[in-house]
Amino acid sequence: MKEQLLQIRNQAMDSLDACQTVKELEDLRVKVLGKKGELTGILKQMGKLSAEERPVIGQLANEVRQELEGKIEECRAVLKERQLAAQLEAEQLDVTMPGRPFELGSMHPLSLVLEEIEEIFLGMGFDIAEGPEVEYDYYNFEALNLPKDHPARDTQDTFYITDNILLRTQTSPVQVRVMEKQKPPIRVISPGRVYRSDAVDATHSPVFHQIEGLIVDKGVTMANLKGTLEIFAKRLYGEDAKTRFRPHHFPFTEPSAEMDTQCFACGGKGCRLCKGEGWIELLGCGMVHPKVLKNCGIDPEVYSGFAFGMGLERVVMRRFGIDDLRLFFENDLRFLKQF
Ligand code: DAH
Repeated sequence: MKEQLLQIRNQAMDSLDACQTVKELEDLRVKVLGKKGELTGILKQMGKLSAEERPVIGQLANEVRQELEGKIEECRAVLKERQLAAQLEAEQLDVTMPGRPFELGSMHPLSLVLEEIEEIFLGMGFDIAEGPEVEYDYYNFEALNLPKDHPARDTQDTFYITDNILLRTQTSPVQVRVMEKQKPPIRVISPGRVYRSDAVDATHSPVFHQIEGLIVDKGVTMANLKGTLEIFAKRLYGEDAKTRFRPHHFPFTEPSAEMDTQCFACGGKGCRLCKGEGWIELLGCGMVHPKVLKNCGIDPEVYSGFAFGMGLERVVMRRFGIDDLRLFFENDLRFLKQF
């Protein structure tokens, strides 16, 4: 039995030296010292021994157990340290390594110019108002003095959702929403998407952007309209930008006009850009129609106002010499990266 004990001890010592991981070590401990382990197996047979042999073997067994336990703890500490070192090595972070370069995006040309236009009007004391793109017929047409049978409705190629709900064809309905909620003085611009069922080509898209403007207060006149919009044109195109107003017609303004800027490519002589005209149309405008004020609960005897609306795409195309509107919506990076 003494022999068996020493054999267990020697084998275990050898195996302990060969252990590579804490897990292996633990398995070995259970195999030798566990409840069903080799050493315990020997002790169970002690009953067969004589009274003289028993204490001798008992003591030896205890010594073997203590020796093995001590050695196991020693190995465990060494292995744990080794494991930690390996882990630290594997997870090492080189803080001097150059970062992975990532590409910065750029502003969409429409956003770029819109921001510029917003800045110009914010600087003149305007607020920015927004309205829904899915709109009631009432706000898009009716309240703007375009009743159901009005011929101008045909020119707007409307996407109808139901009989009285549609995709707004202009940002003008935001005028009505603002006037319904807010008492004068009112000074807002309202940029946003508008929709018309046009076939796509170089100058048409079923979705595009407009910027609407509205001022309502006591004593607002056509002179205020001209002054404000001329300053706007100069801020947008430079101090020598020239403007002119032509009489026009919109159902929601009276009188109405269109404002042109002198072609900056040819200086007014006429070229390909302005189609020989010397002038380029920038926006529609006019004095808010008394009927529209009344529709919004504002007394036209007390208040007056002016409004304007312009297409954003056209301004941006001219700014960057872009000749195809489709480029704005196709998200071709070769195009977008140029801004
Ligand atoms: N809503 C008009 C359009 O889509 C543009 C416009 C013209 C807006 C005159 C106005 C305005 O506010 O006064 O063609």
